[in-house]
Amino acid sequence: MTDDAYLTLPIDVESATGLARQGLRMSLLDTDDAAAFASWLGAVGRGFQDGRATPEVVEARRVTAGQRRNSGVWDETLLDPATPVATVAGWPSQLSVPGHLSLGAWAVSAVTVSPTHRRRGVAGALIEAELRTAQALGLPVVALTVSEATIYSRWGFAPAAMAADWTIDTSRVTWTGPMVPGRVQFVEADRLVTEGAELVERVRLATPGQMSFDGVLWERLIGRGVGLEEQAKSLRFIRYADEHGVPQGFAVYKVLEETRTTVARAVVELHYLVSATDDAYAALWRFLIELDLVGEIRAPLRSIDEPVYWQVDDARAVVKHDEREHLWIRILDVPAMLTGRRYHTPGHFVLDVSDPLMYAAGRFLLTVQADGTAVVSELEGDIPGDTAAVALTVNELGSIYLGGVSASTLFRAGRIQELTPGAAAVLDRTFHAATTPWLSIWF
Ligand SMILES: CC(C)(COP(=O)(O)OP(=O)(O)OC[C@H]1O[C@@H](n2cnc3c(N)ncnc32)[C@H](O)[C@@H]1OP(=O)(O)O)[C@@H](O)C(=O)NCCC(=O)NCCS
Repeated sequence: MTDDAYLTLPIDVESATGLARQGLRMSLLDTDDAAAFASWLGAVGRGFQDGRATPEVVEARRVTAGQRRNSGVWDETLLDPATPVATVAGWPSQLSVPGHLSLGAWAVSAVTVSPTHRRRGVAGALIEAELRTAQALGLPVVALTVSEATIYSRWGFAPAAMAADWTIDTSRVTWTGPMVPGRVQFVEADRLVTEGAELVERVRLATPGQMSFDGVLWERLIGRGVGLEEQAKSLRFIRYADEHGVPQGFAVYKVLEETRTTVARAVVELHYLVSATDDAYAALWRFLIELDLVGEIRAPLRSIDEPVYWQVDDARAVVKHDEREHLWIRILDVPAMLTGRRYHTPGHFVLDVSDPLMYAAGRFLLTVQADGTAVVSELEGDIPGDTAAVALTVNELGSIYLGGVSASTLFRAGRIQELTPGAAAVLDRTFHAATTPWLSIWF
């Protein structure tokens, strides 16, 4: 299959046929058709309760949307038959996994169903089509970020990486972390367009749970792009280079206008901070914490395990809040996923996986070798001696896969069954990821 086969693969027949029985037409969107794209994007915006995009924004989005497989569902009986009643977009991406590795993943976004057509299985038809599409493309996992945590479990998705917002009362803290030899400087956005994108990809592999950025997303994060001109005016960019002058980190922040008063309590909103080294991390956070006239840093969508908590004298001034699931994954191919990451401790495991949709169901023997690589085979018959065996659904497998969710916790919650005593704790030691999984973007 060619690299862009996903763009031309025919629409999923099973879902299209099911929807046709309800008088609905499911098909791929042709992004070369500007009017059709404008209607499709309008439906997405309406689905997420957003305002209408300007013609300039629609056109800019149309150009980038050409790289995605965009589908829609149309109801020809409506007064406005051109606007789809449901939308979805999927595209091949990369998911970082433990061991500085990355696996092909099918990213899904823009899932909307018009309020006029809700709760009659339209979203279900679209999601199941995305699963079959990902499988047809040979991708072992589907990934998404969600608006509500109650929707996607039924299709085998589960939270695999968490995120949290952090607030630091900088008026209370003194930096106690390392003083590092490199240099922080202000730079212009242009420099981040090139150096930053390369750095983001290098850093991505060090943290399980990160999806690859396309250039567009990165440019949007740094305030580039049609419709972001106003926001871009207040963004500041800082770059850390090590003692050899090599760039190792960037941060993008803005000072919230409404908080700029004479009492030196302005609020800094941290849009993004990326660091390839611990030195870069320390230097950028220290710079932000020591900003004059600033009393608070708000850092949304960060890891739930931020070293900065340990780098100031008053840890109570560093508050983590709104911890929540952020990356959801749906495993399709268990052997490909299990052999695609590295593990901590060797051993033999049996994972008895159930999956109502049957993509991942089976009894798998996982053998982790001394170098952290794994071999997986389907197990016929009984559980061999000297193995730690559990029974779990594909959801729980998705949750423990990246190493951020503990099998023991899921066992205690009644979500994983131990087939051999103490198996969950053994799984924890093997699956644990040294760097807490984290996804730093919405997609
Ligand atoms: C969420 C949304 C896509 C669901 O569309 P839908 O066509 O009504 O969903 P379906 O009829 O296919 O529902 C499938 C199942 O999910 C359940 N479900 C759907 N939306 C749900 C929600 N918001 N919360 C809880 N359950 C939900 C349905 O009850 C149904 O359950 P069942 O299979 O047990 O009967 C739609 O309500 C929507 O567009 N919401 C706004 C945009 C949004 O939040 N999109 C999700 C982006 S991550």
